[in-house]
Amino acid sequence: MTTTPGVIVAPSLLAADFARAGEETAAVEAAGADWLHLDVMDGHFVPNLSFGPQMIKALRPRSKLPFDVHLMIEPVDPFLEAFVAAGADHIHVHIEAGPHAHRSLQTIKALGAKAGIALCPATPVEVIAEVLDIADLVLVMTVNPGFGGQKFLGSQLSKVARIRSLLTRIGRDLPILVDGGIDRHTAPRCIEAGATVMVGGTAVFGAPDYGAAIAGLRGADPDGGRSAG
Ligand code: DX5
Ligand code: ZN
Repeated sequence: MTTTPGVIVAPSLLAADFARAGEETAAVEAAGADWLHLDVMDGHFVPNLSFGPQMIKALRPRSKLPFDVHLMIEPVDPFLEAFVAAGADHIHVHIEAGPHAHRSLQTIKALGAKAGIALCPATPVEVIAEVLDIADLVLVMTVNPGFGGQKFLGSQLSKVARIRSLLTRIGRDLPILVDGGIDRHTAPRCIEAGATVMVGGTAVFGAPDYGAAIAGLRGADPDGGRSAG
């Protein structure tokens, strides 16, 4: 299989068997995952609930993977310290989750973690332009946040490309994550647009062979994208 050098794969625990969260984490680590993506949902910013810092704390001793924590919560600032203390290495906050994303990113960095800015499908690129100088990561939602297993939104590919060119213009080579509906067909399109981190829930934890699924998210599309949405 052809793979794209430098592509990072971050399985999303949301699609794992929560009763076996520790084993599932160890399994994707052994299968070649680069990061573990942890989706935190509050039933307010998104219409679903998942888990809080206790899950991250419980998993931390079980894995050496960087923990990539995606906060879909509002407000976000009162909880940043707890997530870093629990073992988050990266924390993504949504630009839509409040008026002070810049302050949230500053706080995350001051706490010693990497700071990511996330944006929903309906949010224009321009809204994050003024925080790209301090962000360490950019997360582009390729579905509406809240649920795993949704269909990839191809409309977000041009957004990835526009963010990549904005970053190039300011001389910053940041990782761009794509999150939602990423599989072996949609990943190559995202990579071509300028994304470097593939977040995959269903495509990894729903597959019989985690290693093959992870490798598939780094690779060239075996069907040339024909079956992609
Ligand atoms: C959705 C989450 C995603 C989700 C992706 O709100 O942010 O990380 O787990 O799931 P799949 O890969 O199944 O679309
Ligand atoms: Zn996510």
